[in-house]
Amino acid sequence: MASNRKKKKTLRTVHVNAGAGYDILIDPGILAYTGEYAAQVCPDAEKAAVLCDRNAFFPHAEPVEGDLYDAGFSCVQLLLEPGEEHKDLAAYSEILAFLADQRITRDDVVVAMGGGVTGDMAGFAAATYLRGLAYIQIPTTLLAMVDSSVGGKTAIDLPAGKNMAGAFCQPALVLCDPDVLKTLPERYFVDGCAEVIKYGVLYSREFFDELKDAAAVKKNLASVIETCVTMKRDAVEQDEFDRGERKKLNLGHTVGHAIEHLSGYKEGHGHAVAAGMAIIARAAAKKGYLSREDARAIEEKLEAFGLPAGTDFSAEELAKAAMADKKASQRAIDLIVPREIGACDIVRIDIAELQDWIEAGLK
Ligand code: GLY
Repeated sequence: MASNRKKKKTLRTVHVNAGAGYDILIDPGILAYTGEYAAQVCPDAEKAAVLCDRNAFFPHAEPVEGDLYDAGFSCVQLLLEPGEEHKDLAAYSEILAFLADQRITRDDVVVAMGGGVTGDMAGFAAATYLRGLAYIQIPTTLLAMVDSSVGGKTAIDLPAGKNMAGAFCQPALVLCDPDVLKTLPERYFVDGCAEVIKYGVLYSREFFDELKDAAAVKKNLASVIETCVTMKRDAVEQDEFDRGERKKLNLGHTVGHAIEHLSGYKEGHGHAVAAGMAIIARAAAKKGYLSREDARAIEEKLEAFGLPAGTDFSAEELAKAAMADKKASQRAIDLIVPREIGACDIVRIDIAELQDWIEAGLK
C-alpha cells in the first residue's frame, strides 16, 4: 500500500503508550505526507473515510486526500458542521449511516479532520462502527492539537449534558501541522491558548512564564504544541481511563462547562475554561490553597492573551449548571485546585459546597 516516495523526516514525535500505542507527529507541512503515515499505521486499509469539519475543508482537505490517494487509498468524504450544537446524536447517526453506505470495513481507516467537535464525534463513530476501526486525528485548531486529539476521549453530547455518550478509544496516529493554524481566525487561536496556559498552571511554572501572549506562542508553535502534548501524554499514560491523575486536565472545566452551557455554547470552550481557571484560582487563594500572587499571575496571564478572567453568570447559575453536568452526577465532585503555578491538587468536595467555591472565585 505505501508508495515509494521518500518519507519526510519528522521533526517532533511524541509517542503515547496507551491503547495499542501511537505517535503524535508535529511538523509544519506534514499533512502533505498523510498517506504515507496512514499506510504505515493501517497497512491493510483500502479506503480512508475522511470526516472533515466544513471549516477545515477548503484550506486543508485537498492535500490530505491527494496524498492518501497517492499512497493507494481510495477516499470517501463527509463534511461535518462545526460547533458544539452539532456534536449530537443526529450527526453521529449520519456518520454511521455514511460509513455503512460507503461499505467501510474494519480494515479501513477513519480520518478525523477538524477541531475538537469533529475529532470527538468522528472518534466516537470510529470507536463504535463495526465495534471499532482505526482512526487518525488531524486536528486543525490549536485547542484540538494540544488537547482533544490526544488521549482517546471520544464523545457526543446528549440533551442532558456535554460528552455524555462516548468511549475511550485511542487513535492510531495524530498528525499536527502547525502551518494549518495560519488560516485559523484569531478568536479560535486565542481559544486554544487557554488550554496551553492550563498546562503551565498544572505542570510547569517555567512553561507558564514563557507564555507571554498569543503572538509569542505563534512564533514558537511547534515547540509549544510538543510541550503541551508531552504533558498530556504523561497524564494519559498514568491514567488512561480518567480515574485519577488525568482528572487534573479538567482544571477550570467544571465552571467552564457551566459557562459554555449557560451561554448556549456561544462562548468558546477555551474562553469558558479560562474564566473557570481564574475563578478556581481566586477561590483557591481565598481558601488558603494558593498564594494571592499566583492567583493574580494566572488572571494576568489570561488577560495578556485576551482571554476572560471572569463571567457575568452568578454563582447560583453556575453551580446549578455544573451540577447538571455528568461530572457532578454524584454527591461529591473533584475540583482541580491550584496549589502553586505548576502544581494542582484534586480536592473532593461535597456537591453542596460547590456554590460557595464559585462564589469565592467570582470577582
Ligand atoms: N480533555 C481532558 C482529557 O483528555 O482528559
